Amino acid sequence: MPTFIFLSWLIGVCLAVDVHQTPSAIIRRQGDKVQLVCTHEKTDYTLMQWYQKSPGDQALKRIGHVSYSIVEHEKSFQEHFNITGDLGGETAKNGSLFIDDLKAPEHTAVYYCAASYAH
Ligand SMILES: *[C@@H]1O[C@H](CO)[C@@H](O)[C@H](O)[C@H]1NC(C)=O
Ligand SMILES: *[C@@H]1O[C@H](CO)[C@@H](O)[C@H](O)[C@H]1NC(C)=O
Repeated sequence: MPTFIFLSWLIGVCLAVDVHQTPSAIIRRQGDKVQLVCTHEKTDYTLMQWYQKSPGDQALKRIGHVSYSIVEHEKSFQEHFNITGDLGGETAKNGSLFIDDLKAPEHTAVYYCAASYAH
């Protein structure tokens, strides 16, 4: 029986900005790789943060962020997780979270992206 990983995600936490996340829900097999994409039109929001909320856990865990093009991952998210994006410049923003070698149950979660000014 293959084990499936369920990734789903909700609207970004941010102030009056329409943040688009694709895809909205995905199911993958163990060992697969997945890309979550987050886009918005707020050209001066140069920071994008990513969070993970595991089922049955109230805590929102911070995975990391990209500020302009500088990426930082929290210690516990340095393996399997890659945040990408270049949020500098006066253009619509587009960042991604890659997760490779998916494992259940630890990668089964709701993932959030949040956009804001860099601070
Ligand atoms: C954002 O970038 C991804 C590639 O990483 C691309 O597939 C997607 O179409 C882009 N989205 C927008 C709205 O530009
Ligand atoms: C993240 O990037 C590193 C270095 O570029 C690469 O070795 C690794 O496979 C990537 N992981 C994911 C999840 O894309």
